[in-house]
Amino acid sequence: MLIDRFGRKIDYLRVSITDRCNFRCLYCYSIKKWKKLKHEDILRFEEILKVVKVGSELGIRRVRITGGEPLLRKNVEYFIKELKKISGIEDIGLTTNGYFLLEKAEALREAGLLRINISLDTLKKEKFERLTGVDGWERVWKGIQKALKLGFSPVKINAVIVRGFNDDEVVDLAKLTLDYPVEVRFIEFMPIGENSFWNEENVFLASEIKKRLEEVFPLEPAEKVGGGPARVFKWGRGIGKIGIISPISESFCEKCNRLRLTADGRLRPCLFSDFEINLKAIIRGEAKGSIEDAFFQAVEKKPERLELHPTERFMRAIGG
Ligand code: 5AD
Ligand code: SF4
Repeated sequence: MLIDRFGRKIDYLRVSITDRCNFRCLYCYSIKKWKKLKHEDILRFEEILKVVKVGSELGIRRVRITGGEPLLRKNVEYFIKELKKISGIEDIGLTTNGYFLLEKAEALREAGLLRINISLDTLKKEKFERLTGVDGWERVWKGIQKALKLGFSPVKINAVIVRGFNDDEVVDLAKLTLDYPVEVRFIEFMPIGENSFWNEENVFLASEIKKRLEEVFPLEPAEKVGGGPARVFKWGRGIGKIGIISPISESFCEKCNRLRLTADGRLRPCLFSDFEINLKAIIRGEAKGSIEDAFFQAVEKKPERLELHPTERFMRAIGG
């Protein structure tokens, strides 16, 4: 069992399988400093599977596949099939920007993936392009529709709300839950990824999001599945749910149950601490130690809580 110094049970591993992304989201990307990882520095699927297997023996029960954009990596479906074979892993999810979902959804579903999170911060095509650098709103939208048709469940839609950019769309985004069985999750804008324009004024707070929504329909607490940081609600006559994730206004450190594995094989105890363990070197025999010890060490080093501050690493490489 992985239990940290503060009594938190660690059973969740977020795995970044690539640092590459075909989008350049303003809130994530910095052209200035980013150096692409070299191919040989990225963990091979076999290596990741080895890590997950050891993790599962120590109590890891849930895995989320992230990036960068994970669907850019070839053969994700193979990876998912292999993950599913690891006993102890009860739950596998994937977080994507949705661009390749239209062509990949079927293979993912066949591989046994059920849970999918898709980023969609705006319902407006040109705003989408301004945000991501890619004219892709329609493709993402079609990808979401396809995921619903194929029976993915839950389908979660992540929207980072930035004041003055898309806070005017909170209600329209929430209205997706009236027509579709999706969970629309509003995320407070975090100072991460060296994005150049984060400042406190840009953060549209959870309380403001709630206020906007409650002006239209009341929010009622809904049953929550899994142990993530979202607060979950029903909204009006919605068939879907609303999630609110408030890293800025309400620290959820005390319930944190996760570790992260970066694309280049670093085990990272906390999104906001740059302490990492070089698992890749251990796996490849370039450093002493075992995967098991690395897990214990990472858990031991989990900070109780951290002030949010810009981190050295990019969200992409850490695994959102
Ligand atoms: N603040 C909040 N959320 C962010 N994401 C990326 N960068 C930020 C940020 N600065 C989100 C993406 C995606 C998830 C992986 O992380 O929108 O939904
Ligand atoms: Fe956008 Fe996600 Fe790509 Fe970052 S990793 S640029 S948030 S799609």
